[in-house]
Amino acid sequence: MAAQQKALLLLSKGAPFTLGTRAIPKPGPGQVLVKIESAAVNPVDYYVEQAGFFVDAYPFVAGSDAAGTVDVLGEGVTGLQKGDRVLFQSVFTADRGTFQQYALADATRAAKLPKSLSFDEASTVPLGLATAALGIYGPIGPRGGAALTSPWAPGGLGKYKDQPALVVGGSSSVGQFAIQLLKLSGFNSIISTASAKNVDYVKAAGATHVIDYHTTPYPSLPAAVAGITSLPVPLVYDAISSEDSQKAAWAILAPRGNLVVTLQPSAAVGKPGEEGEDGKRVAHVFGNVNAPVNTAFGDGLYAALTGLLESGELKPNKVELLAGGLASLAKGTERVGKREVSAAKLVAHPQETA
Ligand SMILES: NC(=O)c1ccc[n+]([C@@H]2O[C@H](COP(=O)([O-])OP(=O)(O)OC[C@H]3O[C@@H](n4cnc5c(N)ncnc54)[C@H](OP(=O)(O)O)[C@@H]3O)[C@@H](O)[C@H]2O)c1
Repeated sequence: MAAQQKALLLLSKGAPFTLGTRAIPKPGPGQVLVKIESAAVNPVDYYVEQAGFFVDAYPFVAGSDAAGTVDVLGEGVTGLQKGDRVLFQSVFTADRGTFQQYALADATRAAKLPKSLSFDEASTVPLGLATAALGIYGPIGPRGGAALTSPWAPGGLGKYKDQPALVVGGSSSVGQFAIQLLKLSGFNSIISTASAKNVDYVKAAGATHVIDYHTTPYPSLPAAVAGITSLPVPLVYDAISSEDSQKAAWAILAPRGNLVVTLQPSAAVGKPGEEGEDGKRVAHVFGNVNAPVNTAFGDGLYAALTGLLESGELKPNKVELLAGGLASLAKGTERVGKREVSAAKLVAHPQETA
């Protein structure tokens, strides 16, 4: 096996992505080396490139999401074999970044792919799903979740039957997974916001009502939701987390309800993990299953993931394939970071790098 691989490198803080080479890492105990066939772009990759967010040392390799084949097993790995098709999430260190041809993954948080799922589709899953799942079912804490019982825990499937929920940003990657998980949890109605052109995509994930946020701006959302359901809304997942969406979400939330935000909580919604007015709580999720505080949760999610994907209960995001291998991820990251992508995940093939 070759000792070197192609990688999209960040050489210093603020420097643009540069195509280069670096050593193929060796898996430690409990890890596997994955040959990456498909890598997907997330907004965080833009923050990593532009501002050095989460970078421990340069040269750095960005990229959180990937799917590929297991190439080398580390010591003590039992659940996987060489050649298994898997998806996995990175954590912020160069040997695990997915904008390269080979990366390390923790074996218990690498899920085998059902035959029906392509590498491209599978690569859209890890970060978006982790952020939705940790936000709804993760434990309460400063960077925690709403602590609901997950559908893969005993008694969790359908537990919140016929309670209404709101997902702000249903066509976003995170929003798509939040809707699907809330459906598995039994929530109904599931109300969401998106552009009118994406109504079908959001409904296909499980939303029962989709409100166009262009014609119904967020200050008008509480009235629009009240026109759909008169029941109290115990869970709002705000995948967009702008100032005005958080304000609307907080107003819609029932007493003792939970709001999940993906960006910094606004002053209007209280402090994460603490009870605010009427016992309402906001959770500021950290959507990484490999963060030490989240690994036990991540193991549970990944143990259930292959089955959920095989049954179709969880579906991947829509894929937009980028031509040109690793180099294409530079422009792709800029488009995602500048919010120019609607209702799709950008995916590239690292092995097709010239
Ligand atoms: N805290 C964490 O750990 C964590 C993890 C992952 C993501 N995030 C953050 O969560 C956010 C979502 O991430 P993502 O990967 O899901 O993003 P994404 O898929 O790139 O988001 C694109 C989507 O955002 C939608 N959108 C934009 N403005 C909107 C608005 N005002 N109302 C409703 N929808 C709107 C667009 O919908 P239309 O095209 O339909 O208009 C578009 O489909 C980002 O800010 C990201 O940085 C945080």
